[in-house]
Amino acid sequence: MMNLRSIELALPSAAEAHRWMIDVWGLADGGQHGDTWYLRGSGSYPYLVSLSENADRFVRSTTFVCSPDRLDHVARAAAAHGLNAATCTSSDPGGGAGIVVELAEGEILRFLVGAAEVETIAGHAKASRRVMPVKLTHVVFNAADAENSGNLAEQVLGFRVSDRTRGMVFVRCNTAHHSTAFARAGFSSLNHIAFEMDDLDAVMRGIGNMRDHGFAPAWGPGRHGPGDNVYAYYIAPFGPVIEYSTAVEKVPDDYRAGEPDDWTWPDKRIDQWGVSDKDFAGLRVAEETFRFRREWQPAPITLPVGA
Ligand SMILES: [Fe+2]
Repeated sequence: MMNLRSIELALPSAAEAHRWMIDVWGLADGGQHGDTWYLRGSGSYPYLVSLSENADRFVRSTTFVCSPDRLDHVARAAAAHGLNAATCTSSDPGGGAGIVVELAEGEILRFLVGAAEVETIAGHAKASRRVMPVKLTHVVFNAADAENSGNLAEQVLGFRVSDRTRGMVFVRCNTAHHSTAFARAGFSSLNHIAFEMDDLDAVMRGIGNMRDHGFAPAWGPGRHGPGDNVYAYYIAPFGPVIEYSTAVEKVPDDYRAGEPDDWTWPDKRIDQWGVSDKDFAGLRVAEETFRFRREWQPAPITLPVGA
């Protein structure tokens, strides 16, 4: 078992960002510990996003929850590849223990076993203006060398490359077509955070809710090629690109990874629907806002982890 659970961000005015993610984006309050504020969805994870007060903006980690055998695989492969890594115990809601690994471009991924879940909560009624995301569906990184990052994800994390396009290397850690991807950006940073919505209707109502608050999509609504998921991207006032998404394709074990020439569009199209413009310049600025910072010291990992 391996699932994307949460992303941990550091930024100035974290409490204000927390408020906006509840009042406007639709997440629920996941509590506060010291200088860190948590946000949850309607699903069973205790939180999806943490926001820690800091003078700088950066990604502290992206967290996956997994089974002990998957953790053991990552721990052994990270050591074999000489990556910076350390064992860790989570002090975030849900707890759990495992390892934290730094990939080649500074992406920091945390893998936890034994992290607790919580009761799901009801989303908003369809007649409501409001929507509530369920969980994260993917976190995408910008990469100087996306191929290398995709290869590392396969070799170290036990993930699989699902598709390669001219822009991205899509990677899965379970049957969902992708839980992460590496964009061929030429630099290393957070590309965007995507929230899973109940259905297409919830994405559209989310767009309506954002419109009520004065926000237009930076791209979308639309439907992607690889993964076949519906999307609507926004630039949050505190910096990052965030997305309402739904219906990512489930793929079998023997899914054949597509190559860039398999994923081309008709003239003037960059998605299946072609109904929206894309704010390339605005998105580019937002995508450079959150870089990576390692806040822990690498240390040899004793196997099996937690023994
Ligand atoms: Fe996305």
